[in-house]
Amino acid sequence: MQFDFVFHNPTKIYFGKDSLNNLEQELKKYKDNILLVYGGGSIKRIGLYDQVIDILNKCHKNVFELSGVMPNPTYEKMMEGARMVKEHDIDLILAVGGGSVIDLSKGVSVSAYSKEEPFEKYWLKKEALDNKTVPVASILTMVGTGSEMNGGSVITHEVKNLKVGRVFPSSVYPKFSILNPEYTYSVPLYQMKSGIFDIMSHLMEQYFSGHDDNVSDDLIEALIKSTIKNTKNAIENPKDYEARSNIMWIATLALNTLVGCSKEQDWEVHAIEHQISAFTDCAHGMGLAAISVPYYQHIYKYGLDKFKRFAINVFNVEETNKTDEQIALEGLDALKDFIVSSGMIYSIKDLGVKEDMIRPIADTCALGGGYKQINHDEIYDILLKSYNNNY
Ligand code: NZQ
Ligand code: ZN
Repeated sequence: MQFDFVFHNPTKIYFGKDSLNNLEQELKKYKDNILLVYGGGSIKRIGLYDQVIDILNKCHKNVFELSGVMPNPTYEKMMEGARMVKEHDIDLILAVGGGSVIDLSKGVSVSAYSKEEPFEKYWLKKEALDNKTVPVASILTMVGTGSEMNGGSVITHEVKNLKVGRVFPSSVYPKFSILNPEYTYSVPLYQMKSGIFDIMSHLMEQYFSGHDDNVSDDLIEALIKSTIKNTKNAIENPKDYEARSNIMWIATLALNTLVGCSKEQDWEVHAIEHQISAFTDCAHGMGLAAISVPYYQHIYKYGLDKFKRFAINVFNVEETNKTDEQIALEGLDALKDFIVSSGMIYSIKDLGVKEDMIRPIADTCALGGGYKQINHDEIYDILLKSYNNNY
């Protein structure tokens, strides 16, 4: 363990088939005006909307609705919610949906009472939060982002053509989140796989950094292996409760700051994906799947020990008579096999990227990196490899 850290996660989790039963007691802690935030209608189709409305009515809440939150939620939608919060003096923002709905709700929470233009202040300049916020809570229906137990809020500014993430302090984390794996049964297979690769990517973004002996890396290896095992079961039988509940909880653990303790972190794969999304509106996890292997092939030499360890501990690559480089690269081949055999996307062409978009995407990515700081030309090469499936 290399770095000092503070671990504090205030979100209360209710997990399981009966977890919605806890909503009533939680609602009693807040005053009457509730902003119910949801997406394009999936919560109505699975009957969850009616259940939640019944509980809100039973608690005599005044319910205002912000519906139609889109995947890759936009600044414009966030500001619509911010205006509603002020107009109706909202006491609690209840997000029912996936990462987009929860991320947007956090954005609404911090933006409603901001005196300055919030996107510029909080997402672009990443200034400290200095205005009143409104409590957020969530009922999760789509697994992957970890937004149910973290301060992340990723917002797309359509006019600026930028998708930007921001991690807010613990006061903005959901106060409570209700996780019922059965709600995820209706998630389309493509979205489910996208969410699963998002989990894998969160774990790898934190793992592929640092040269210390860190217990967080041991936890991450266990979580990646469990994700791979449960993915197979969930694809074969989407109503396998054990598989869906394991994946749901892994997703939360993967990005609730626990496995990032004392870790340097990378997050360049996410930075690149965010711009692919800004140009194509693709599913977040599929964007990550399409660029992860070419990105790691580009940087592995700078963290060779860790990539070797990954190959052996996660994918059981045989070591005998091989160089460290061979072992590391076989691990990345195994990662690509997992992506391909699970039916995930491995070329950005399949996300709608056109050849003439590659340069502008590369040039607008935020720069960072774990084992290697990369530049826009290197990102261009990584994108081109993915585009041509030449890796
Ligand atoms: O809009 P509805 O009709 O609800 O449909 C949604 C949406 O079309 C559907 N869906 C959700 N639950 C469903 C369901 N369909 C059927 N049955 C259900 N039970 O799934 C589609 C995708 O939903 P979305 O919320 O967009 O997916 P996800 O959870 O992957 O969220 C993606 C967003 O989160 C950001 C991403 O960048 C992206 O904008 N991220 C947030 C992070 C965080 N807060 O820490 C970290 C991540 O790295 C990520 O960047
Ligand atoms: Zn992600």
